[in-house]
Amino acid sequence: SVLEMEVEQINKGNYEHYMQKEIHEQPASLTTTMRGRLIRGGSCKAKTVLLGGLKDHLKTIRRSRRIVFVGCGTSYNAALAARPIVEELSGIPVTMEIASDLLDRQGLIYREDTAVFVSQSGETADTFQALEYAKENGALCVGITNTVGSAIARKTDCGVHINAGCEIGVASTKAYTSQIVVMAMLALAVGDDTISSQQRREAIIDGLLDLPNKVREVLKLDKDMKDLAKLLMNEQSLLVFGRGYNYATALECALKVKEVALMHSEGILAGEMKHGPLALVDENLPILVIATHDACFSKQQSVIQQLHARKGHLIVMCSRGEAAAVGLGGSCRVIEVPQVEDCLQPVINIIPLQLLAYHLTILRGFNVDQPRNLAKSVTTQ
Ligand code: G6P
Repeated sequence: SVLEMEVEQINKGNYEHYMQKEIHEQPASLTTTMRGRLIRGGSCKAKTVLLGGLKDHLKTIRRSRRIVFVGCGTSYNAALAARPIVEELSGIPVTMEIASDLLDRQGLIYREDTAVFVSQSGETADTFQALEYAKENGALCVGITNTVGSAIARKTDCGVHINAGCEIGVASTKAYTSQIVVMAMLALAVGDDTISSQQRREAIIDGLLDLPNKVREVLKLDKDMKDLAKLLMNEQSLLVFGRGYNYATALECALKVKEVALMHSEGILAGEMKHGPLALVDENLPILVIATHDACFSKQQSVIQQLHARKGHLIVMCSRGEAAAVGLGGSCRVIEVPQVEDCLQPVINIIPLQLLAYHLTILRGFNVDQPRNLAKSVTTQ
């Protein structure tokens, strides 16, 4: 109807699609996610994190034997992105569960576990049933959702709202980055009693406070990503290699490309390259390698060398100013992004890739906000 069309116009503002609006909204959504939760230190007071919904349970979480992240789709990928920093700062092993797989296996969950359920909608059936299962097994259940009053928010023992604002595009974008930030804050809160990591925590808090500015910078790559999409639009497939903090970035980029651009794409752990995927490499298949600067950088440089030696059609994402170190003398396309604290880099790196998936979809003529066969929230099994 005319009214519905006008409401849509108001909601989308100057943007043509919700996905586009939600990608560009991320400096603001991330600011809202962090609001009131990062306490800047005074002269002698240290910077800390305050998560109201968790503070009474932090002692129990610190005592747990294991932290288990549970989610589906993009929410699972967000947890995977946060896993290294949660493990580092908490000192507790973190395992990952896709909700349906935990249920299929009736995987082991113990009373000494903290199970963290990550869900944008808070209504995903698989995640909710995994939550019921974990509760029956006596785990402390923590919810990370974007929807106050949702089924998962109500059923968990405690939790954190990501406060990213309503997300309408079926493909999750701003919720993904807010979920990562919330889990980084969770890591900071759980690790808060450890003096040896004080400096590291303060550096991350400074990084979080500056993150919206860095997101604003990386959004300027919109035009470049559109140009890249033009080059890739007729391809059959796109491989994405990542590792460490950015293994999740590879999976999430591939998920976005599949779900909205309807192009086959696969996220690959770079450390597994020589155990199979290397056989796929030829001069035609496009391969995106995420090689921003962190402790894995030199390993990722050698992956690039090996792909290049097999004449791979490479696109490399690197930290600003490092194009020469990875650019193979101008023989491959480079996406340069601002460098941030290593554990926050996945927030920055996914944004050009969200833009790439968006532009690929538009160029290929598909529905970007409501991809065929998919629903925003899957409430049946
Ligand atoms: C559906 C959506 C995905 C989403 C997944 C999990 O498959 O299409 O975009 O990532 O559900 O949703 P949740 O609301 O639990 O995060």
